[in-house]
Amino acid sequence: MKNFLSLTSVTPQTITELLDYADRLKYESKHSISHKVLDGKALGMIFQKASTRTRISFEMGMYQLGGTALFLSSNDMQLNRGESISDTARVLSRYLDGIMIRAYYHSDVEELAKNSEVPVINGLTDFCHPCQVLADLMTVREYRGALEGLKLCYIGDGNNMANSLIVGGLKTGMSVSVACPEGYEPSPRVLTFAKSYEGDFSLVRDPLEAAANADVIFTDVWTSMGQESEKAARKAAFCDIYQVNDAVMAAANEGCMVQHCLPAHKGEEITEKVFEAHAKEIFDEAENRLHAQKAVMATLMI
Ligand code: CP
Ligand code: NVA
Repeated sequence: MKNFLSLTSVTPQTITELLDYADRLKYESKHSISHKVLDGKALGMIFQKASTRTRISFEMGMYQLGGTALFLSSNDMQLNRGESISDTARVLSRYLDGIMIRAYYHSDVEELAKNSEVPVINGLTDFCHPCQVLADLMTVREYRGALEGLKLCYIGDGNNMANSLIVGGLKTGMSVSVACPEGYEPSPRVLTFAKSYEGDFSLVRDPLEAAANADVIFTDVWTSMGQESEKAARKAAFCDIYQVNDAVMAAANEGCMVQHCLPAHKGEEITEKVFEAHAKEIFDEAENRLHAQKAVMATLMI
C-alpha cells in the first residue's frame, strides 16, 4: 500500500491488518507503552474544508508516534492562487514524509497522490471518507468481537460516508443495507462494486426496511460540506423520514449499535434521544479515529 485514498483500492486483508495494528496501538497508548515509530518524520495536513476530529486526531497521532504534523490551510497556500496540484505535490515531497489532504474533489487527491513521492492519505473528499470508516470498523469490531456476518445499515444521504461504509462493510464480511431518498443514491462506482456482493447488499427507500435485523446503524448529515446551497432542497427530501429514531431502532436487532461520524445535527438525521442513548459508542468511534489513523501513518510512513 503506497497511499490510503479509498477503501476501494485496499484489500480486505490490508483492512484487517490495519484494524489489528490500530487495536495494538490503542492498547499501548492506554498502557503508557511508547511507540515512537515515526520519530523525526513530518506529516503535512492540507485542509480545504473545516475539521475538528480529523485535524486533531492526525496531529496528536503524529505526535504520539514521535513525529510532527503541520496544519496547511489551503487558503494560505499558493494552491489557492493557482499553483498546480502537481507542482504542490512535488514541492511538498521534498520537505515531508507524508501528506494528509481533506479536499472538495476526490480527483484532486488522486492528482496529488500521482505526483507525490511521499504517501498521501485521504482525510475526506466528495467521494469517500476512508479514515473515518476504518475507525468505524474498529469500533464495531471492538464492541462485537468480529465483523463477519453482522448487518450494517446506513440511513440517509448517499454521500462520502455511505460510499466508504458500503465498501468497508462488504469487504469485511458484513451485509450492508442502505435507505436513501430518490436522487440521493451512493456513487454509481460504489453501486457497481456492491453488485459483486449480490445477496449481501440492498438499497431501499424505506428506513424501517433497511434497519430490519441490523446490528449497527449509521447515519450522517443531510447536507455535507460543500453542499450548503442545496440545504433547503435536501431538508425537504430527507425530513421526517431519513432519521434514526425510536421506530428505526425498534426495527433493528436488540442491542443494535448506533454510529455517527460527527458532527451530528440532532433532530435531523438522528434524534437527541437515540444519540444520547448511544453516546458512548459514538464517542468511542470518534476516539478511534486517533488509533486507526496512527495505524495508517505507521504503515505508510515508516
Ligand atoms: N468525522 C469527521 O471527519 O469530523 P471532522 O469534520 O471534525 O474532521
Ligand atoms: N458527509 C459529511 C461528513 C463530515 C465528517 C461531510 O462531508 O460534510
